[in-house]
Amino acid sequence: MNTILRKQFLTHVGQTSPSPMLVEVERAEGVFFYTPEGKRYFDLISGVSVSNVGHANPQVVEAVCAQARDYMHVMVYGEMVERPHVEYATRICSLLPEGLDSVYFLNSGAEAVEGALKLAKRYTGRGEIVSMRRAYHGSTHGSLSIMGAPEGEYYKGAFRPLLPGVTSIEFNHTEQLSAITRSTACVIMEPVQGEAGVRLPDQGWLQAVRQRCDEVGALLIFDEIQTGLGRTGEMFALQKYGVVPDIVCVAKAFGGGMPLGGFISSHTIMNSLTCAPVLGHISTFGGHPVCCAAGLAALNYILDNRLVEQVEAKGALYEELLGGHPQVLEIRRSGLLMAVELGASDKLYRMMELFKQEGILSDWFLFCDTAFRISPPLTITNDEIRASVEIINHCLNQL
Ligand SMILES: Cc1ncc(COP(=O)(O)O)c(C=O)c1O
Repeated sequence: MNTILRKQFLTHVGQTSPSPMLVEVERAEGVFFYTPEGKRYFDLISGVSVSNVGHANPQVVEAVCAQARDYMHVMVYGEMVERPHVEYATRICSLLPEGLDSVYFLNSGAEAVEGALKLAKRYTGRGEIVSMRRAYHGSTHGSLSIMGAPEGEYYKGAFRPLLPGVTSIEFNHTEQLSAITRSTACVIMEPVQGEAGVRLPDQGWLQAVRQRCDEVGALLIFDEIQTGLGRTGEMFALQKYGVVPDIVCVAKAFGGGMPLGGFISSHTIMNSLTCAPVLGHISTFGGHPVCCAAGLAALNYILDNRLVEQVEAKGALYEELLGGHPQVLEIRRSGLLMAVELGASDKLYRMMELFKQEGILSDWFLFCDTAFRISPPLTITNDEIRASVEIINHCLNQL
């Protein structure tokens, strides 16, 4: 590692933790990235469910270059008719159930969540929000406010005051749905909880949440920022679990590797941000043409190569190859979003050291530091899965 660059990184780049990985990236391609010394890492995180079509995907790179040559930023979001923007919105809506037919583009996941919360408050005229324990929705004030309590207190307590009127309920606990009332503007949830350590919804539970929202007139928001764009084995987890929310938040893989987020709703609900006040939500760079071109190219790549159809089998292969190891207590999985449970955080931290040494990029979860993550690009081949499992098993054997 270039020691000057490392020192400048630590001095001049804002730090998120006292112990960054400090691995220098020179280039990335497919499911791998490489350091300047030529060390190869298997990327089993995908930038946290971003690089679904693999790194440096030629179709995405070409779309970015072509759009950058045509035009980049022209005018604030919503004023001009920009082809990448319109084509991407039209395409993504064509893949969603009826009633999810209007996209508001933003730059990130947290911004998508902020916009969705405002939309729900504006549409219902209510102020209260229900979220799930161990939920992560982003790091801005609004999205931090709905981080599930009490577990989220560690991350958000120091930043109070936050949004009032937020209640957290336990995922998969039907009796707690009574906390959703006629004062609730919205329930926001991940259909599969990511940072909780990959927690899947019990059969019928998402339907019960939907039903309770309908009973009291609250909107249901699905945060599909990690689960969207094929990760769980359907284009969206809402299709996998058969529940249609009122608003869907997307980001991460939505931009094909470029920064892009959005919330998607019905034309009617979305229109409540248009008047009284006008400019109910605005953003300079939201739906940047280069990001939309990249996202659309990535989506087309997913569809043309039938990636979503292969996700379940690839996830099952990981499960089959890893599940028998005596150190693995459990594998929680939805498609290619996986948590491999070791049962103890000291084992997990040791695994992280071994992974770094042996050329695997993985991590743990914000609310679960006893399991490691496997969420590779959806383009990973069966041979690459086998090769990565060989390294993982080699690391597990050293615990
Ligand atoms: C489920 C979920 N929602 C929201 C976010 C926030 O997205 P961003 O980091 O783009 O603001 C994340 C990020 O990890 C996430 O996993």
